[in-house]
Amino acid sequence: MSTVLVTGGCGYIGSHTVVELLLRGDDVVVVDNLSNSSLESIKRVETITERVPHFIEVDILDRAELRCVFDKYRPDSVVHFAGLKAVGESVSKPLSYYQNNVAGTANLCEVMAEHGVFSLVFSSSATVYGDPETLPLREDAPLGATNPYGRSKLFVEEMLRDLQISDPRWRIALLRYFNPIGAHPSGMIGEDPRGIPNNLFPFITQVAVGRREKLAIFGDDYPTPDGTGVRDYIHVVDLALGHLKALDYLAEKEGILTCNLGTGQGYSVLDMVRSFERVNGVTIPYDIVPRRPGDIASCWADPSVAAEQLDWKATRSLDDMCTDGWRWQQQNHIGYLP
Ligand code: NAD
Ligand code: WQD
Repeated sequence: MSTVLVTGGCGYIGSHTVVELLLRGDDVVVVDNLSNSSLESIKRVETITERVPHFIEVDILDRAELRCVFDKYRPDSVVHFAGLKAVGESVSKPLSYYQNNVAGTANLCEVMAEHGVFSLVFSSSATVYGDPETLPLREDAPLGATNPYGRSKLFVEEMLRDLQISDPRWRIALLRYFNPIGAHPSGMIGEDPRGIPNNLFPFITQVAVGRREKLAIFGDDYPTPDGTGVRDYIHVVDLALGHLKALDYLAEKEGILTCNLGTGQGYSVLDMVRSFERVNGVTIPYDIVPRRPGDIASCWADPSVAAEQLDWKATRSLDDMCTDGWRWQQQNHIGYLP
């Protein structure tokens, strides 16, 4: 059993990962500034797992507070989710993204090293591949983000590579997530975006539950089988389990690992709408509207490095994602709000 510090552990992917860590017996310390989440998610995690993680409201930009957390809880490793993630907002507020995502990670690493903690799992993103030249995407594909959010992830990846070269005690996993969707099968935790959802899946669930009138499909003239954008959607529980495998890997192996976490299978926007309608018996009204600036046509992973190095594969289907995501939305019409 070990103690894992989870930054951003109240958020969407973090809360699902905290559940799996607690269920396997690890002690968990969550730090989060609640800028994009609520403490209710941790209460729900406690109900699901019948265990209690430590929670400290801390901004990772506050080094003094972070030091106190490390002094008190002495974690063995860190899973680092905390950061900002809205692509559009990153264009209008780039400095917030570089502060929270890049400077925040530098702070965290400094405090980790001061406390002799050198094991880090970092949330990177398939967005670092930019517009792919070839598919499926392997980890050695050319990199090139197209917006400040993506660049902040790229910069952190480079910073962590430099850090590991400077001190070989560091053991780092850079996990490039594809498109996480769905929710815990209990329906108790899930994605709870503030305001109008930027992403496809929460938009669909909000249409289904009556919070939004219609889905706008951004373009049907892409070079894809039905003209709509194709992505590698991955169930958030599969993604969470990938983090446990990454921690196991770092306990055994030195160095830095860069690894895609995806299913290897692409689905279009229309595939998603039809699956959601079929498995849940609902109708999703939609309009086709012009392309969203900055969108790419298609993106899916080659997940073989994760299979070989982490012994991890996604096992949950698109139908599972639709069923579990809908259960969460039905049980929580307005998310975590009472
Ligand atoms: P989220 O917003 O639900 O979770 C992030 C959490 O970090 C939130 O609880 C937020 O309050 C917290 N946070 C933000 N800034 C902080 C700070 N300065 N100090 C302390 N806490 C802070 O997002 P998520 O979807 O769970 O994403 C988690 C990570 O995975 C992010 O780094 C994101 O960039 C990355 N990622 C997400 C996706 C996705 O589609 N959801 C895809 C690829 C990568
Ligand atoms: C999926 C498909 C849209 C909304 C974004 C970020 C990326 C990553 C995940 C963190 C596309 C279409 C969407 C809608 C639509 N985050 N769509 N109507 O664009 O792959 O990635 O989130 O790292 O950085 O860029 O995901 O869910 O927004 O879009 O038609 O209302 O759905 O055009 O084809 P995307 P998405």
